This record gives sequence, structure tokens and C-alpha cells, in this order.
Amino acid sequence: MLKEKIEKALNKQIELEASSSQFYLAMASWAETVGLNGTSAFLYGHSDEERQHMLKLVKFINERGGKAVIPALTQPPSTYSSIMEIFESLLEHELNVTDSINNVVDVCLQEKDYTTHNFMQWYVSEQLEEEALARNIIDKLNMIGNDKGGLYLFDRDLETLAAQTPADTQK
Ligand code: FEO
Repeated sequence: MLKEKIEKALNKQIELEASSSQFYLAMASWAETVGLNGTSAFLYGHSDEERQHMLKLVKFINERGGKAVIPALTQPPSTYSSIMEIFESLLEHELNVTDSINNVVDVCLQEKDYTTHNFMQWYVSEQLEEEALARNIIDKLNMIGNDKGGLYLFDRDLETLAAQTPADTQK
């Protein structure tokens, strides 16, 4: 049986993963409307991934005798000033997610819930990867600057990356 404090922390995490999915979906849609098809494919895939992160938490809570709460979500922005704004905002979002995951891990230790602690380790590693990827993308965008040819290649690279990680095989 899940302790109340743990259930509360995990449900808060559900909300964050769901809101990540929603935010990245809005970014994907905007990118599609401005012809950044690779960026859009990458973000649609990322949004699906976040939904899987949420579902994993829903199932874990319910399987352990708790009750997952499906949250209402804030409407994300529907337009963005640039591709850089998208990835800076994505990184900021991921840093918040990491803080929240660290908080869940902290609560697990306080409450001596080693099963949930073990379950959360997957999220800890996932955050490392996601933060590194977002930073890497921002570095590339900084290198490209206003070079249109560079942006074209960048978008094509993201398309390749998206194709390598189809949403249905994501963790
Ligand atoms: Fe599931 Fe990107 O945090």
C-alpha cells in the first residue's frame, strides 16, 4: 500500500509529465505550421514520450493500491517567436521536471519506500538524457545563428532523430 505522502508526490509528477506532453504537442503543432517539419516530428514524438512517462506513473500508483489522479492542464502557448524559444522553454520545463523527480526520490527516502525509490530511478536517468539532449540542441542552434542553410540541415537532422525513435517503442 502506498503511503499518502508518496501517492501525493507521484500524482504531482503525473501532472508534470502530462503538462510536458501538452506543451510539446503545442510546440510540435506550431513548428508544423511554419514548415519546420523535422522539428515538428521530433516534438510530436517527444510529446508521445511524455505521455508514456505519465502512464507509467498512473499504472504504478494504481498497481500499488493507490489512486492515480488525471489532472486538468494549463493551456500552453500556441505561437512561438523562434525555434530557439521553443528549445529554451523545453529545457526550462525539463529542469522543473528534474526538480520534481528529485523531490519524489527525497520523499521516498524519508518514508523508507524503497520500491518506489527503485521505480523512480528510471526517471532519474531519463532526465539526465533529456536535459543533455535539450542542451545539445540549444548549442547547435547557437552555432547556426541566422544561417538559413544551417537551420535547414538542423531541421533535417531532427527529422532523422525522430524517425530513429518511433513513439510506440519509447520507454
Ligand atoms: Fe518525462 Fe521530459 O520528462
